[in-house]
Amino acid sequence: MNRLIERDELIIKWLYEAAEISKKSFKQMISIEEKTTRTDLVTNIDKKIEHFFIEKINTYFPGERVLGEESSKQPFTELKGIIWIIDPIDGTLNFVKQKSDFAIMIGVYENGIGHLGYIYDVMRDELYSATKNQGAYLNGKQLEPVDDISLREGLIAISHRLMTSEKNDNARKIGRASSGVRMIGSAGLETTRVATGKLVAYIGASLAPWDIAAGKVIAEELGLNYTQLNGEEIDMLSHNKTVVATPSAHKEIIKNFR
Ligand code: IPD
Ligand code: CA
Ligand code: CA
Repeated sequence: MNRLIERDELIIKWLYEAAEISKKSFKQMISIEEKTTRTDLVTNIDKKIEHFFIEKINTYFPGERVLGEESSKQPFTELKGIIWIIDPIDGTLNFVKQKSDFAIMIGVYENGIGHLGYIYDVMRDELYSATKNQGAYLNGKQLEPVDDISLREGLIAISHRLMTSEKNDNARKIGRASSGVRMIGSAGLETTRVATGKLVAYIGASLAPWDIAAGKVIAEELGLNYTQLNGEEIDMLSHNKTVVATPSAHKEIIKNFR
């Protein structure tokens, strides 16, 4: 990918600016709309942040495509060229109800391959970033590859939707096989917990490209596996049941879901 260092510097600057938009909104009235269900929300702040990134990208990298959660009405049908994949607020329900545990996420992909990934945990001021083949970082400090801890020895996160589904016994079975289940409600932040070895796995129910893009680059730089729950490669053109995990927990989890 061209202009890699420049992209990295600009993205980090933009993320801090976007975070200010989210924090300032706590002192204002925000408008909240339901998208598909009462738990699938969007606020004017999600839209404002996404718009902020799109304007920056169009100015600095004209001609490059943007896949944004709140503005891309049509799904992409191919991954040619450079695509910026943006989740302006990951964990909107947390943003609205808790004012914490949400993240701003950007992934930059070229021909379907992730080159840059950023997850900014705004309220903890923790910026996770990675460049393909150059390692992953937390606030500029390089992260160590994650120890390959087994499912039995580790805590896992499982999406609310899977855990509460009456049909899905597999999720509860995997929960029982682990040391314990934790839930945050932000696919990005759950991925950062796996990236820092606090969890051995995160299982997502139906994640969109913007839920996955940044975290996949970061996770893979640390020796983690990020795939569909059946073990196949992530499909960046649609929704996926996902697992990001240490290699041994990953193996055990996909065996259960196959
Ligand atoms: C959601 C969160 C949530 C996950 C959902 C996502 P959003 O993202 O990451 O934890 O379970 O599948 O859609 O809508 O808050 O950006
Ligand atoms: Ca999201
Ligand atoms: Ca979002």
